[in-house]
Amino acid sequence: MMGSREDKKQEILEAFQFRHATKEFDPNKKISEDDFNFILEAARLSPSSVGYEPWKFLIIQNKELRDKLREVSWGARGQLPTASHFIVILARTIKDTKYDSEYVKNQMLSVKQIPEDVFEQMKIRYREFQEEDLNILENERTAFDWASKQTYLALANMMTAAALIGIDSCPIEGFHFNKVQKILAEEGLLEDGHLAVSVMAAFGYRKNEPRPKTRKDRDDIVLWV
Ligand SMILES: Cc1cc2nc3c(=O)[nH]c(=O)nc-3n(C[C@H](O)[C@H](O)[C@H](O)COP(=O)(O)O)c2cc1C
Repeated sequence: MMGSREDKKQEILEAFQFRHATKEFDPNKKISEDDFNFILEAARLSPSSVGYEPWKFLIIQNKELRDKLREVSWGARGQLPTASHFIVILARTIKDTKYDSEYVKNQMLSVKQIPEDVFEQMKIRYREFQEEDLNILENERTAFDWASKQTYLALANMMTAAALIGIDSCPIEGFHFNKVQKILAEEGLLEDGHLAVSVMAAFGYRKNEPRPKTRKDRDDIVLWV
């Protein structure tokens, strides 16, 4: 039996209170395969602008690779050696996210099952959207940042899904982009420049209890107009 609506709201808010940026995990506690698949499913079902799904989730379980990343990731020094599961979230580069790329064509025709003639019409809109409305194609960086933004939705959904089943996490931007890129490219994980590092996330079970949560008041961040 599903709980009442009020119970559900309570449960979700408790998960948001439970979630905190975990600095160090209990190295002896591992997330079960089933639970981790649940977290990955939250990522897979996440929304993305125009449905491009411009992401890839590298699960880094290899110790040597974790050690290498740790040397260039100041924000993950406590998490990399202790996390049960460590994810590097990659975003697709302009090679894939430009409106007329092979990637987009495949995404629309094969994944989203859109008929080819409809896609040809959509492409005209997508060009306008990317070139004029949002100016996404100004340079490689603006294009990449647009794809990278989408990955943060998957990141957030994974962390919330994890918290709902009592699993801790930490989002991580504390790394040297070029150095991480080099390490992953050497491992052949970036599809020849079609992928680049967006953000990282560590999952596991907390070692220590966090400080009580602090946030601004709602009135300071919300404006009704
Ligand atoms: C995109 C992003 C990147 C972050 N990068 C790091 C990081 O590299 N290392 C770290 O320990 N915490 C990192 N944090 C955690 C934040 O510092 C933390 O979420 C914030 O201080 C609020 O605390 P709380 O999440 O415990 O409520 C990051 C958070 C976000 C959203």
